[in-house]
Amino acid sequence: MSLLQDNFGRKFPYIRMSITDVCNFKCGYCLPNGYQVDKSDNRKFLHLDEIKRLAMVFSKLGVSKIRITGGEPTVRKDFFEIIKILKEAGIKKVSITTNGYHLDKKAQMLVDSGLNGINISIDSLDRNTFKSITGHDRLPEILKGIQILQDLNFENIKVNAVLLNNINASEKDFNSWREFIKINKVDFRFIELMQTGDNLDYFRKYHISSKIFKEYLDKNNWIYQTLGKDAGPSLNYINPDYKGKFGIIAPYSKDFCKSCNRLRITSKGDLRLCLFGNTGISIRHLLQKDDQIEELQDLILGQMKFKKESHYLELGETGLTKNLSTTGG
Ligand code: 5AD
Ligand code: SF4
Repeated sequence: MSLLQDNFGRKFPYIRMSITDVCNFKCGYCLPNGYQVDKSDNRKFLHLDEIKRLAMVFSKLGVSKIRITGGEPTVRKDFFEIIKILKEAGIKKVSITTNGYHLDKKAQMLVDSGLNGINISIDSLDRNTFKSITGHDRLPEILKGIQILQDLNFENIKVNAVLLNNINASEKDFNSWREFIKINKVDFRFIELMQTGDNLDYFRKYHISSKIFKEYLDKNNWIYQTLGKDAGPSLNYINPDYKGKFGIIAPYSKDFCKSCNRLRITSKGDLRLCLFGNTGISIRHLLQKDDQIEELQDLILGQMKFKKESHYLELGETGLTKNLSTTGG
């Protein structure tokens, strides 16, 4: 039972925790020039002890799932230790979001770590398009990694792509994903491009409504799966002839925030109530000693009343989010 609840009846059994802002890719919509050190901010990323205390407090507050995000979380040398620490603190489901860098080499270790789920970003199955979006020619190693994970019977594999007009949003692109999930037990979801503080020009050029993908699914007889109790904001579609599912994440849609079930922790220890909100406070000062746990718990509980019903993205308000590399999407 999650003790974290807001004024709108939503519960938060799920935390997304960024462990670094550093990323080794240069996705056009996120870090087109690669990761740059923010010289005005000399705080370090959360260290292991702090992450352990966070996990302990959230476990006490009834959080059952933590997703580790970045930047690119696997760039941290202690990445596998972090998975272990979260599990030891009593978090039942630990999952990661990754760009898939060296996934072929890491697959076995990921399985061995007891990880419960993986989200991999692949914006295109076309090698050249992938390279032009991310700045890296690494599609083959990622696909190989996904194959290895499946061969090792790893269960919960999701692939996300940001939907980009004139880049990866044609019927041909959709068909290639359809072939992919026909033979791979992988859930593939398109995320609608979001405007952030940094990417306005890119957003104007490439944003397209996810309606075109929805129309494609309807036309091809995919069946909308109604939301389960703990479902997140993805709309899922199934087809009995396919091993995987399709999904749409449309943050601009009317009811998107109604099913919000997550809170965020930034890599430097701020609690964010919403990806795009202006509300966020540092809780790091209460992560320094084991005997601060009660005080930390009270601080987090006290913040719940500030969670807003919805974001104001449609008004072009991007909140504190300059790009998603600090909060991991
Ligand atoms: N809009 C939508 N999705 C984004 N991501 C990063 N930036 C954006 C954006 N502006 C996605 C990545 C990855 C996840 C961490 O967030 O592609 O799937
Ligand atoms: Fe890195 Fe993810 Fe941003 Fe791409 S979207 S630059 S992989 S943090």
